[in-house]
Amino acid sequence: DLYNIRQIGADTKIHGVIGNPIGHSKSPHLYNAAFKSVGFNGIYLPLLVDSVANYISTYSSPDFVGYSYTIPHKEAGLKCCDEVDPIAQAIGAISCMIRRPTDGKLMGYNVDYLGAIGAIEEALQGSNGTPASGSPLVGKLFVVMGAGGAGKALAYGGYEKGARVVVANRTYEKAKELASKVGGQAMTLGELKDFHPEEGMILANTTSVGMKPRIDDTPLPKEALKHYSLVFDAIYTPKLTRLLREAQESGATIVYGTEMFINQAFVQFERFTGLPAPKQLIRDVLARNT
Ligand code: ATR
Repeated sequence: DLYNIRQIGADTKIHGVIGNPIGHSKSPHLYNAAFKSVGFNGIYLPLLVDSVANYISTYSSPDFVGYSYTIPHKEAGLKCCDEVDPIAQAIGAISCMIRRPTDGKLMGYNVDYLGAIGAIEEALQGSNGTPASGSPLVGKLFVVMGAGGAGKALAYGGYEKGARVVVANRTYEKAKELASKVGGQAMTLGELKDFHPEEGMILANTTSVGMKPRIDDTPLPKEALKHYSLVFDAIYTPKLTRLLREAQESGATIVYGTEMFINQAFVQFERFTGLPAPKQLIRDVLARNT
């Protein structure tokens, strides 16, 4: 019943997630259940793809209206779009591709950053009440650890929301390059240990430090965490990383990596269907499939 087989017809809107490997993806469960729950005539398939360029030119018929992109195809996907959203262009990677109904052109977007930033904003609002206007990130010192794909997404997202961005990365050159694009400061992870120009900063980890199986590792020692009011970790295996555990012990609000995935799923669903996401159902499906 996952694929709503009885509903499939000529006007069914076909979607899929492009990745390699793809067997572990929770997205088919999530989107098919969500499509069904709102009565949207759509289907969502796992697509194991080696070459995005070959796939798009050979198999992508006009019936395919939406794709999600996952590892390792987010950069290659960008090159296969007819048009790319400016933020996705800046990040250098897409997370979804949508066929524009009017002319069939493939439009690339990156909503990963919206997922992470949305989760952080929600947590900030929860702890301080809803701000009168604008994002609760406005004017905040926002430290992003890592300068890879996820680091770029968070740094651009923070910049777009009006935060003062700091990029800290193991390799200084990459931090410098990214920081220069978002008008921010760059440093190494080592230097970040002694960086606390003010209290109540916001920290986002996008490095792989602390990811299963190396769960005893952490990108920033506990002593440094007391200067932060909120800590987000993009890692979601394990859900509670050492960084998040120590941040919580230091009194910070913590935001799990799973929230980034859930929030970007809401955004993608809305882009795919034009309908409001069934948020509770999506949370329930993910809870059942983890
Ligand atoms: P993603 O798309 O998830 O961001 P990525 O592009 O491979 O993945 O980026 C990985 C990030 O984790 C980089 O910032 C990397 O630092 P370098 O630029 O110095 O390579 C960081 N990283 C990976 N392993 C690390 C480690 N052991 N210590 C510190 N940083 C690490």
